[in-house]
Amino acid sequence: MNEKQLAAEKSTEFIKDGMTIGLGTGSTVFFLVNKLAGLVKQGLKIKCTSTSNRTSELAKSLGIDIVDLNEIDHIDLTIDGADEVDNNLNGIKGGGGALLFEKIVAKASDKVIWIVDSSKYVKQLGKFPLPVEVITFGSNHLFKKFLEFGYKPVKREVAGKVFITDSGNEIFDLHLNEIKDSIKLEKDIKLLCGVVEVGLFNNIADMVIIGRNNSTEIIERIK
Ligand code: 5RP
Repeated sequence: MNEKQLAAEKSTEFIKDGMTIGLGTGSTVFFLVNKLAGLVKQGLKIKCTSTSNRTSELAKSLGIDIVDLNEIDHIDLTIDGADEVDNNLNGIKGGGGALLFEKIVAKASDKVIWIVDSSKYVKQLGKFPLPVEVITFGSNHLFKKFLEFGYKPVKREVAGKVFITDSGNEIFDLHLNEIKDSIKLEKDIKLLCGVVEVGLFNNIADMVIIGRNNSTEIIERIK
């Protein structure tokens, strides 16, 4: 089993009958959804909501019902991947372009667990390009501002076409290399007109499950 699958399968131990679960997005969550589908077939009773069309389609194809977030009064636990996480359990997300829904779902959750392979656990955030979701209207002007600020933005493209998120927005990936103050940076970027969301997830994860070699390591936020 690879590290992503190890972390994903371990996280299902925190899911109990009757819970409402937020499902993240990405290749690590793929293993989670597959494992969950097996558990649901065996009789686990859960309600799920999703952070992307991609995850919803996968879950439904495996027999897991997805409920709209507005139909749910609270989420007990959200399990999601991450692109980088530091030892304060702050992280970068949005590599798969689902950062906006991921943050909304995480903020509506009583508990958030991230599942990652060992390469994602870093001393300092920033090597992974920081995704920022922006509205398409006038985005070239905002792009120039990001250049002026020295954020080294790159407009995300897939197969030569501008990448569009599930909410119809674009993504700028900021090649910062290092992020010294992730709290300040999240606020600074969020204040720019046209920015919808920043892929900095500060003080959101309660637990990180890291797949390492043939095992898993759990790190919990100190409250
Ligand atoms: C999607 C995300 C993903 O959780 C993140 O990119 C990790 O993906 P993967 O599990 O494929 O490595 O934030 O927006």
